[in-house]
Amino acid sequence: MDKFLFGVASSAYQIEGGYNEDGKSESIWDTFCEDRNNIEDKTDGRIACDSYHRFKEDVALLKELGVNSYRFSISWPRVLPEGTGKINAKGLKYYLDLIGELISNKIEPIVTVYHWDLPQILQDKGGMLNKDFPDWLAEYSSVLASAFKGRVTKYIIINEPQCIVGQGLVTGDHAPGLHLDIKDALYATHNLLKGYGKSFKAIKRIDSKAEISIATTGNVYVPEDKESAEICRQKTFSVDPEYPWFGMSIYLDPIILGNYPEEYYKNFGDILPAITKEDLDLIHQVPDFLSFNNYSGTIYRKGKPIDFKKEGIETADIEWEQIIPESLYYGSKFLYGRYKRPVLVSENGMCDNTGADKGEVRDIRRCRYIEKYFSSLMKARKEGADIKGYLYWSLFDNFEWSRGYSKRFGLVYLPFPDTARIKKDSFYFYKDLVKKNNF
Ligand code: FCB
Repeated sequence: MDKFLFGVASSAYQIEGGYNEDGKSESIWDTFCEDRNNIEDKTDGRIACDSYHRFKEDVALLKELGVNSYRFSISWPRVLPEGTGKINAKGLKYYLDLIGELISNKIEPIVTVYHWDLPQILQDKGGMLNKDFPDWLAEYSSVLASAFKGRVTKYIIINEPQCIVGQGLVTGDHAPGLHLDIKDALYATHNLLKGYGKSFKAIKRIDSKAEISIATTGNVYVPEDKESAEICRQKTFSVDPEYPWFGMSIYLDPIILGNYPEEYYKNFGDILPAITKEDLDLIHQVPDFLSFNNYSGTIYRKGKPIDFKKEGIETADIEWEQIIPESLYYGSKFLYGRYKRPVLVSENGMCDNTGADKGEVRDIRRCRYIEKYFSSLMKARKEGADIKGYLYWSLFDNFEWSRGYSKRFGLVYLPFPDTARIKKDSFYFYKDLVKKNNF
């Protein structure tokens, strides 16, 4: 059996900094942050955790933590400053060095190809609304697969299509901050999926040993009683007629089962883009494993959602995160049941803003969170769901998108704008958990 992946996850824009160094061009997040109204604390990721300069120190932290894997993303504009075409050797070298450092410390690199930082130059050409988008993504994926072959085997092509389309293109609270009408947004969704399909094929062509995935998120419905169980499973894969983008099945069904859910056609039939058989064949690239990002859920009792406030369910220090550990249990069981792919929990973590006091961060709530969520995942595993691993989000506090530095998910504290690394209690807690569960 494969080793259980125990690790942490991060993404380029949230941690690297080095925003204009060594030939990197602007990403849509660089430009989005220029309008200070877009970011809660009026900051940006120009320096972030400065991992562009401090990556060796970061790998030493990973080593101390005892994890066997590290998920990080590549900055597309660092590697291909023009979006396509000429490769920026210096930008690529940063990742080759990072990967080398990880491997020499026996930590497996898990590469996210696209974690939201599209080169601005491609957005200027229409981004995901440009019919060439799938080719752009596939070219970029090929560059990575060729450069990393023999060193990287696990690729997550896209992180959370739910947020890319929903928040980036429809509600506009993420870069590039668009408010597309539903028809255009459905076109972008289809184009993004074609990009996944083309990239998948391109990577496999270059490296037949590559194991490829996509990271999904979305609402997980958690039944509290027997009569809610089937309702919750169905809701988790249903298609919202008003706002379909936070669902799971509109992305995963065509990728894994070969077609969009019937409900999708029913709800949006006349405004869907042309969906040809060739498109569906292209998108239908079954991932080697399914990556699942999950933080929270919605509890149902007697077939109805409960009022979490009235029930006194704890909310983390970010308003969307109710602490519902069973969401990992049900989420991974539902996903495994429907799609029959091994599940890697590629993100799970708590926003706990506990600060530093005399060099110590007593984030007891985060420790409790990790303990409960992890044991709920282990319950699913015991009952037969094929669970490939667990990656905590995130190694350190970082730039939390439109929330800036005001929301902290890390095991390591950073006193921004200072980028000193201070290990929190949860760092030691997680270290212990990893050690104890050495499957
Ligand atoms: C996820 C994102 C990740 C991080 C966490 C808190 O949706 O993938 O980058 O912001 O939320």
